[in-house]
Amino acid sequence: MYERSSVAELAESLRAELNRYSIGGKLPSSRVLVERYRVSPVTVSRALAQLAAEGLVVTRPGAGVFRAAPRTAAPAPGDTSWQEVALSAEGAGEIVPRSVDATGVLGCLAVPPSGVIELNSGYLHRSLQPERAMAAALARAGRRPGAWGRPPLEGLPELRDWFAREIGGAVVAADVLVTAGGQSALATALRALAPPGAPILVESPTYPGLLAIARASGCRPVPVPVDAEGVRPELLAAAFEATGARVFVCQPLFQNPTGAVLAPGRRAEVLRIARAAGAFVVEDDYARSLAHEGAGPLPATLAAEDTD
Ligand SMILES: Cc1ncc(COP(=O)(O)O)c(C=O)c1O
Repeated sequence: MYERSSVAELAESLRAELNRYSIGGKLPSSRVLVERYRVSPVTVSRALAQLAAEGLVVTRPGAGVFRAAPRTAAPAPGDTSWQEVALSAEGAGEIVPRSVDATGVLGCLAVPPSGVIELNSGYLHRSLQPERAMAAALARAGRRPGAWGRPPLEGLPELRDWFAREIGGAVVAADVLVTAGGQSALATALRALAPPGAPILVESPTYPGLLAIARASGCRPVPVPVDAEGVRPELLAAAFEATGARVFVCQPLFQNPTGAVLAPGRRAEVLRIARAAGAFVVEDDYARSLAHEGAGPLPATLAAEDTD
């Protein structure tokens, strides 16, 4: 304790008298400091180490201790605005900005400050998560034979089969590709179906993550308004005609963010309009398993009703 406080005191005295020396000037030797301040050599060397750590002095073994040049300001951050130009400039044709604005997604993913109940995302509050049951299920899954093997790239056959049955209609396991989640599935679908620069029709408003994917894939999202009954068919037809788009991304069930369910009378319309345009419907059925208990029977997937 005594030692520590004498180190601090000596460091303070040396700091106060540092500007007596010119930049690069040599401080008195350790022996002189020991005598002048009546402290031990250990205290001197610790106090000097403290000043060196603060960048006030430089120690050169064998030569002595010198007053350091004042630290220059941190280098200015690099200017990366050229990247925006480089990524957006297209040689010919339509310019599609490829800078990705993911603030909408990041806003949903950020952990809320304590005491704040967040209503903007689908993450359950911890107190509502069946943690014990999930931990037990995970442990059980980890013990299953083959759990640590390499699964097929397109997903486990049993899982593909399960999804095919959930989707319904004529969909079979061979139609299913298992991805790392909804975001990944949308990215895979868009990249497979739309070349860079292509327009894709999206509901308006829609899930910000979809817009980020569209931009990152070089596609041009074209908004089609949604009302309380889902996407408006007459505007969908007009958008296909105006843009020549070949892809429409649709959330028929609990549309994010409106919550709208595509009205029964519009479901066949949407498929008919897409078929007439020679276009693909990417159905983002992200919320089927999130329905409240007692919500009643949910409408089938659009895919189940699409004979094509
Ligand atoms: C409409 C919609 N699609 C896709 C996703 C992404 O799903 P995942 O978290 O599985 O990537 C979300 C997530 O909120 C969503 O709201």
